Amino acid sequence: MRRIYLDNGATTWPKPAGVLDAVDQFLRIGGATAGRGIYQQAIDTATAIDKARAGIAQLIGAADAHRIIFTAGGTDSLNLALHGLLRGGDHVVTSVAEHNSVLRPLRAIEDALGIQVSRIGCDASGRIDEEEVCQAIGQKTRLVVLSHASNVTGVIQPTDRIGDLAREHDAFFLIDAAQTAGQLPINVESLQADLLAAPGHKGLLGPLGSGILYVGPRAEEQLIPMRQGGTGSESESDRQPEALPERMEAGNLNVPGIVGLAAGVEYLLEKDVSAIRTHHLALRELLCSGLEKMQNITLYGPMSQECVGVVSFSISGYAPQEVAAMLDSAYGIQVRAGYHCAADIHDTIGSRETGGTVRISLGPFNDEVQIAQVLKAVGQIATEAPI
Ligand SMILES: Cc1ncc(COP(=O)(O)O)c(C=O)c1O
Repeated sequence: MRRIYLDNGATTWPKPAGVLDAVDQFLRIGGATAGRGIYQQAIDTATAIDKARAGIAQLIGAADAHRIIFTAGGTDSLNLALHGLLRGGDHVVTSVAEHNSVLRPLRAIEDALGIQVSRIGCDASGRIDEEEVCQAIGQKTRLVVLSHASNVTGVIQPTDRIGDLAREHDAFFLIDAAQTAGQLPINVESLQADLLAAPGHKGLLGPLGSGILYVGPRAEEQLIPMRQGGTGSESESDRQPEALPERMEAGNLNVPGIVGLAAGVEYLLEKDVSAIRTHHLALRELLCSGLEKMQNITLYGPMSQECVGVVSFSISGYAPQEVAAMLDSAYGIQVRAGYHCAADIHDTIGSRETGGTVRISLGPFNDEVQIAQVLKAVGQIATEAPI
């Protein structure tokens, strides 16, 4: 049975060939730590890291490559931003549509430091109301943190006015771009983002264990590193490193992950993210219009174009996990089921009691033939549903 992978919202698979080659080459031929030696492999490694920062900066419209910090993934980037920025007494604005990698650190900081958190609700499609966010921003607000698109319904959140308003209040705007980096053209300047967190292994097409945090000029001075230690280009002295990446990236970097991520980003720059978006929207449309016609199916989230390549649904009479298990074992179709590490949003979209949703999330290499197979399989399961 030929398997179909549709869990790209968790991590993309397959990766472009260039990503595999870059990791392979690094491990076979060029692997060294960066900047700790004056020998060629170390110099080449440092050059590869600089190149990776430059590619990512280009992709997200960052003016300076040194504003890109390498991390271990989306969760790591968000933890660094949240723990590094927040202080006792701060006020934070966020939403119920966030991933656990925002909700849980905020709860921990709330308990430890006594910050105050305003959690904005969302509508039945998972969409937040920008006006409500704006109204929640006040004099004590230090941070607004929102996901750019929901990992449960795929809806792209309205953020046009938030960056501006946050600035007026001297607050920072952190965007969780886990589901949009590499799926939507992103520009940190037009988003007015002070910080942007993105996993390297989802839409950016790099290996698991890679991630980035963009840190803008306003946030740079305020961000406290989570770790201290040796850094790539630091000298032997005890001097504290001053450059932003050196301050934030203590310890040896995951260079195989970084060179793989750089190759993923190169693929995106060549292909153009808009082309990937068009492809995802066409597949999403195919999927949604097919599912809409079926009996016993509930679709969550908007059917409009204001989405990334994520589709959530349930089949009456089955728990989402049962549907995913049947799709896998009988049809070789691999999808996610449950709450998708974002439990709070399910109360509003109506999928709490059914145990969450079945989630299909698209990658650049999925195609129409696969979607037709998925529709056939889901159709058969829904027809036989025990209701
Ligand atoms: C919206 C959102 N934020 C953050 C994350 C965490 O990213 P990572 O898996 O790289 O830790 C995810 C992962 O699914 C996500 O969907």
